[in-house]
Amino acid sequence: MCGIIGHIGTGNALETLLTGLENLEYRGYDSAGIAVQNGSGIAVQKRSGKVDELKNSIGDRHIEGNVGIGHTRWSTHGPPTDENAHPHTDDTADVAVVHNGIIENYADLKSWLRERGHEFTSDTDTEVIPHLIQYYLDAGMANEAAFRRAIDELEGSYAVTAMLDGEHVLYAARQGSPLVVGVEDDEFFLASDVPAFLEYTDTVVYLEDGDVAIVDEDGVEFTDLAGESITREPETVEWDPEQAGKGEYDHFMLKEIYEQPTSLAQAIEGRIDPENGRIALEDFPSGTFEGVGNVQLIACGTSYHAALYGSLALNQAGIRATALLANEYSVTAPPVDDETLVIAVTQSGETADTLNALRQATAAGADTLTVTNVVGSTAAREADDTLFIRAGPEIGVAATKTFSSQAVMLTLLAQRIAADTCGEPPADLTSLLPDLSRMPAQLESMLVTDDAARIADRYRDSQSYFFIGRGLGYPVALEGALKFKEITYEHAEGFASGELKHGPLALVTPNTPVFAVFTGDEDEKTLKNAEEAQTRGAPVIAICPDDHRAVEVADRHIAIPATDSELAGLFANVQLQLVSYHAANQLDRPIDKPRNLAKSVTVE
Ligand code: G6P
Repeated sequence: MCGIIGHIGTGNALETLLTGLENLEYRGYDSAGIAVQNGSGIAVQKRSGKVDELKNSIGDRHIEGNVGIGHTRWSTHGPPTDENAHPHTDDTADVAVVHNGIIENYADLKSWLRERGHEFTSDTDTEVIPHLIQYYLDAGMANEAAFRRAIDELEGSYAVTAMLDGEHVLYAARQGSPLVVGVEDDEFFLASDVPAFLEYTDTVVYLEDGDVAIVDEDGVEFTDLAGESITREPETVEWDPEQAGKGEYDHFMLKEIYEQPTSLAQAIEGRIDPENGRIALEDFPSGTFEGVGNVQLIACGTSYHAALYGSLALNQAGIRATALLANEYSVTAPPVDDETLVIAVTQSGETADTLNALRQATAAGADTLTVTNVVGSTAAREADDTLFIRAGPEIGVAATKTFSSQAVMLTLLAQRIAADTCGEPPADLTSLLPDLSRMPAQLESMLVTDDAARIADRYRDSQSYFFIGRGLGYPVALEGALKFKEITYEHAEGFASGELKHGPLALVTPNTPVFAVFTGDEDEKTLKNAEEAQTRGAPVIAICPDDHRAVEVADRHIAIPATDSELAGLFANVQLQLVSYHAANQLDRPIDKPRNLAKSVTVE
């Protein structure tokens, strides 16, 4: 979820590009770069760090021209270094490219190009694109044909913008990652998000998957990949530039909840093969986990709930696994032996408590693995191995999309570990993986319903809010309560549903709505526990598919799609995120920055 900006106009493109990159800063990034047609070739400047560092590095360097492209990077392949920053060029620097997304077949393309004499300078998947374009130019193709042909070779998701030396043209293509053209008289912009150029124009044309746009000083031509002309209508965006980072949403948290179909698609892209029931985690080929006898997962906050989810998935797969609060690890760590794998789960990769626990595990001789969202983070660097969740930047303090991506990646990891240690995957992957691949689309459909908003409104004046679940529904109940208390400041607690009768039931009144999560893990028992609260006057809200028996019993119902029991809780979690969001919004809370809390806590 990097940012792209491109500009063709009458003035110097450099200033527009740098402004565009600053406008994309809300996305969070780790490196930035620009390329401008400089009269005598393409001038490229790029740096790890923030746009200010890019600006400082430009200094007095004379970069002037009216065509250029720029990029802010959120690393997915290779750490955030100067070399890995975009734009990328071919050997001769005649082609410059910026790219968002993931090129799944980049390794094959890279070795194919290497065999033909191309040399690469970065770890990125993107670098194959300028080399491919150059290859087809060298083969005698015209510029436009070479661009199309190169794009046609790419598998995965992309928004690509390219520039070729010696002509005032920008080429763009989209498949699975957003790209939009901005138009204002004889000025044209290309960007991954409208905010990049909103101060220059509000007239935009969105590219659709499979579209190619060719932009020059006279206008924009849209075609499909085969070169057939297509029509795309301009629209006017009515956004206040101040608010633009949030797009159409009032808060980053809501935006990030709604990004989950995309972030999950990105998490699983290239990592599952639903048809053949196979999981392919890039750095963990079959056999990687052969010696693992037990797993300890360490984490804090929301990541701890994802870790708990992962530990239960591991247990269900037959692997000994425990989730531990990282801040308790120094005093309560179970013994580590040479079969122990310690997994640090941390979206930021910088949480002090988690880093300390990771270091302690390393010192004790455990093998370590980090599951994180941030390439180049401390936890990613310090662990033996890393699995990236690819959720893109998360701005809201309350974690949402990172939890879903962590839980999904841990579910896949659990199956991979179990397959290595038990000889075969214990779950029916021919059922789980197709359900997982359907998840982004199902989430999309679920997110247009208003069940969660209605429930938040219905129970807005309650005294306390309880969340219960069993099996994989238990971490979801804990996370539902954490989200609710974090952003509403109302009292909320999560319990294993069977525990309700062992104490919490004493607190139950008609003013304590009980949200019951049904995941298929002994649902009848959870329903009975919910009824025990209902008998004492508590309203019960069932989170389950429409045809579930709990719908008849509960006072209210929030619908989730029918799916594999390993995934049901994740749909329920998204609905509970929405309940918390709407409840907090009604209370006019500062949702993106709840009092006393920070996104990343770097002290113990
Ligand atoms: C802070 C945040 C939480 C987060 C926790 C762990 O407390 O407010 O939202 O879950 O840190 O963060 P991590 O980056 O390690 O996932």
